[in-house]
Amino acid sequence: MNITFSSIRTFYTSSRYLKKVPERLKGRSKSSQEWLIRQMNDEYVSKAKIENYRARSAFKLIEIDSKFNILKPGDVVVECGAAPGAWTQVCVKRINAAGTVPGKLQGKHIAVDLQPMYPIEGAHILAPLDFTKLSSQTKVTELLDGCLADVVLSDMAPAATGVRELDQDQILTLGYSVMTYAQQISKDGAKLLIKLWAGGRVKQLENELLLHYSRVKVVKPPSSRQDSAELFLLASNFRRNT
Ligand SMILES: C[S@@+](CC[C@H](N)C(=O)[O-])C[C@H]1O[C@@H](n2cnc3c(N)ncnc32)[C@H](O)[C@@H]1O
Repeated sequence: MNITFSSIRTFYTSSRYLKKVPERLKGRSKSSQEWLIRQMNDEYVSKAKIENYRARSAFKLIEIDSKFNILKPGDVVVECGAAPGAWTQVCVKRINAAGTVPGKLQGKHIAVDLQPMYPIEGAHILAPLDFTKLSSQTKVTELLDGCLADVVLSDMAPAATGVRELDQDQILTLGYSVMTYAQQISKDGAKLLIKLWAGGRVKQLENELLLHYSRVKVVKPPSSRQDSAELFLLASNFRRNT
């Protein structure tokens, strides 16, 4: 019998297996047990631990950047929805924000989140802060100190209610807020990456992005779970005077 990683994962996440709940998970709610079992059997969760990333989400940015070359040493990056900081860890390395690679340009990274975040060398962390508030955006602009951004990233997601339309509307509102702010602080040629959930008015946001960026791609990196509605809009080549 050919035992592959995915066959093991299918076995562990099958309803037959879920009836045999490990002792230490007993007493938790069913959804919490399912979430923990999925985490225990997720290859990206293990990889994140081995590579010292704060969350498996690191691999989404790594995969997107490896395919589309978003980040380079010396870039100025604004990241919205950064906690716990896995994207920040990836970004800081790739733009050399801590100046740890001599001979390469040193970038600048500003990370914002509603939740508090532990420090990351090379990152300016503004947290806890609600990015959608004008006062928060003013703080980011002040930290930019006259620089324009090469890249704006948003992995922001609201706490899901489970009501699909409501959740989609809320994540779109976050997406619009990032798009509007990115237009004020991005340099010519800049990129913008926004996380959304499929459906609703995604196409409308895509069309609005096309008014200011030459290209917009819908991206679903391999580490984004197939059963999740998550997708990313990657807009490239910002045109400042449009
Ligand atoms: C999926 S997590 C981000 C994970 C992060 N990219 C990482 O790799 O560690 C989504 C984040 O969006 C944040 N968020 C949601 N609404 C926000 C808002 N209005 N302002 C700032 N952050 C927000 C949440 O607090 C949460 O930490």
